[in-house]
Amino acid sequence: MKIRISELTNYLDENVKISGWVYNIRSIGKIWFLILRDGSGYLQCVTVKNDVDDEVFKLEETLTQESSVSVFGKVRKEPRSVGGVELSVSKIIVHQLSNEYPISKKDHGTDFLMTNRHLWLRSKKQNAILKIRHQVIKATRDFYDNNGFILVDSPILTANSVEGTSTLFELDYFDRSAYLTQSGQLYGESSAMAFGNIYVFGPTFRAEKSKTRRHLTEFWMVEPEMAFCDLEQNMDWAEKHVEYVVKHCLEHCRNELETLERDIKKLESITLPFPRITYDDAVEILKNNNVDFKYGSDFGATDETMISNQYQKPVMVHRWPAESKAFYMKRDPKNLNLALGVDMIAPEGYGEIVGGGQREDNFEVLINRIKEHNLPIEHFKWYLDLRKFGSVPHSGFGLGIERTVAWISGTKHIRETIPYPRTMYRLEP
Ligand code: 4AD
Ligand code: MG
Repeated sequence: MKIRISELTNYLDENVKISGWVYNIRSIGKIWFLILRDGSGYLQCVTVKNDVDDEVFKLEETLTQESSVSVFGKVRKEPRSVGGVELSVSKIIVHQLSNEYPISKKDHGTDFLMTNRHLWLRSKKQNAILKIRHQVIKATRDFYDNNGFILVDSPILTANSVEGTSTLFELDYFDRSAYLTQSGQLYGESSAMAFGNIYVFGPTFRAEKSKTRRHLTEFWMVEPEMAFCDLEQNMDWAEKHVEYVVKHCLEHCRNELETLERDIKKLESITLPFPRITYDDAVEILKNNNVDFKYGSDFGATDETMISNQYQKPVMVHRWPAESKAFYMKRDPKNLNLALGVDMIAPEGYGEIVGGGQREDNFEVLINRIKEHNLPIEHFKWYLDLRKFGSVPHSGFGLGIERTVAWISGTKHIRETIPYPRTMYRLEP
């Protein structure tokens, strides 16, 4: 079995073979150091003139950054190095001598780095961000699996719009047209009627024409949906989910958070309960801070930052003016102008990470909403069925993986939180 750098503490004083890429080389005459990376970590390999063949020692002059090599040697304890070990080199095999690597240690512009995303992924910070992404997804799955939710995959090719018709990607589908899914919610709802508690997890698509640091055209969303669940219980699930993910990352991503110089104390203060305020309360905050805000509209990025700055934790804003929200939201029986929706806004200006709410469960009301929103009723027939055959109060939400990773990792721009970002201007690599 291949041994990886992260496992080397189990091989103290043993002879091993480690394969990877040249990260850096430094020489002090009769000794040179190769910093090897293999994706699991970094290893200092020490080559001493008298310990190796001449041709191996001479590799110091020819090896280039990102050349692929296998290094043989003995594992030694070295408390000063990151993994606590180093390698005394006995032999090096070169697989390929890398051409001049375009990404050097000096600063490059983001556009250049994004064009070289396929290579940029190898760098320390990008590696750390995407390892955090991996753990955010793992923790998310663990959380729902451990709580008895069933994973249901929703289709990517759909006939319905869910989140408004302005951001639909339309494509030819034989003799009709189809859309790339904006959200698996509608299928989540039908699945919740079959299984009770479910979650949908997959890529979602929106033709976002905005060029912001929070919007991608392809992003991943986890969407739990619960039968017999009201707005308050929905918020309970959302905050538990987010708390679990943050705790998991604190436990499993220490090195990565340190590499990114994330303020760990801020993450440690993310404990239950999270504050819950109404839309009206949030507007009040904006007014008190002299923000010129039109009641009834959605919050912009700077509004969200202003609201989140009042708290150390994510804040849940609920009960929104109904006209600002989607057709499927249930209205508040105490005030029919309000929708039982909730957004969770991350601290430190990372914006909305969760959107959801309680769903309209009455057949007549829902059919009228679909008509009011000028949506083609024939494509919603199956969805309306759920209100005919054992309708129940139910709720759910969607958590955007990239925005959550951006917040936890402290990454300002969402494009670095997904391996191959898709935006209006970027389809490659
Ligand atoms: O608030 P949204 O639009 O809600 C829905 O799609 C619901 N149907 C979900 C549900 O109730 N099942 O999107 C949910 C989350 C946002 O809070 C945000 O984190 C993320 O998805 N998101 C985006 N992330 C990246 N780029 C975009 N263009 C995004 N649009 C939404
Ligand atoms: Mg939203």
